[in-house]
Amino acid sequence: MSKVISKELFIHLAEILSDNYGLNFFDERFSDLENLTINYFKKLRVNEPEKYIQALIKQENEIININSFVNFLTIGETYFFRGDETFDLLGKVIYPVIFQNSAIENREINILSAACSTGEEVYSTLIHLEMLGYLNLLNKINIYGVDVNSDFLERARAGVYREWSFRNRKDEIIQNYFIKSNDTFEILPKFKSKPEFYRINLVDRDEILSHFSINSFDLILVRNFFIYLTQKNINRIVRSLTELLRPGGYLLTSPSEVALIENQALNKIFNPGLNYFTKQNEKILTYQIRTNNLQKNNSKEVPVFNLEVDEKKRCYDGLQLLIKIDQWNQFSEIVEEK
Ligand SMILES: C[S@@+](CC[C@H](N)C(=O)[O-])C[C@H]1O[C@@H](n2cnc3c(N)ncnc32)[C@H](O)[C@@H]1O
Repeated sequence: MSKVISKELFIHLAEILSDNYGLNFFDERFSDLENLTINYFKKLRVNEPEKYIQALIKQENEIININSFVNFLTIGETYFFRGDETFDLLGKVIYPVIFQNSAIENREINILSAACSTGEEVYSTLIHLEMLGYLNLLNKINIYGVDVNSDFLERARAGVYREWSFRNRKDEIIQNYFIKSNDTFEILPKFKSKPEFYRINLVDRDEILSHFSINSFDLILVRNFFIYLTQKNINRIVRSLTELLRPGGYLLTSPSEVALIENQALNKIFNPGLNYFTKQNEKILTYQIRTNNLQKNNSKEVPVFNLEVDEKKRCYDGLQLLIKIDQWNQFSEIVEEK
């Protein structure tokens, strides 16, 4: 594979990976993309990499499997009980509220680990719930792990780990919750049978909503993921995840990602150790509407105006917000958010 691949082709590839998968290979990560792509094609013993890169750009899955390439590019770094501050916050502040509300409303609890990698976060959550004495309520808890990387998800479903996955806490966790076999550790069957893992590309709102319902999650953990994304993709994914949260539901990132979250529908709660987010109960949001289509309503043209919009009257078409304006009675106007 001696032929030099043009920089333009890599730039184009970086744009496709960002737009379609949220993977950010711009700036200082651009050379990583070049090296990783070349290594990938070496592994596949491909002689004409340019042709295959073109196929990746054109999303020609029949020539090259795009999902396998994405699997190769994603970084799955994770371990059990990562981020003590998160588990402290969950145990002391968040679970008591979630469990009380679900008991009052007599309903199940839904938890999502978004970008769950090989499942350590999902199983840590279940082990933690057992440690706190909530596990007798296990039949009331639904827990899901989603990730774009199907290889990671296969490992999550298998629930078999090596010692490196326990680098934060070791003996107590391994002894009580895993079955040791040579140098691997398998999560106990009662935990392994609980979660459901799905391959979902979190950039794709439709893919998310084909698996989950709006306003259904009590808690979403989305940690050590946004650091790899552009702000545009972070905003897009936060918007979809916020839709999934129940009003009052919780969204937790890692401490270093808190500053990346900007969403009108989320309240930022200041908490020593880790600030976190809750979805506002208030369902009316104010948007600054910019449209040149008001003539439809026989009004004088008003290029920019503020409008209070109910949740039921908002939806997204890709990145663009559509708002149902009563008199027109359909989601017809493409507007810009304030
Ligand atoms: C560093 S791991 C974080 C794992 C875990 N949340 C933690 O905090 O330990 C980042 C994960 O994001 C996943 N990922 C990257 N892009 C994604 C996308 N567009 N949709 C879903 N998952 C994605 C990767 O496959 C990887 O497993």
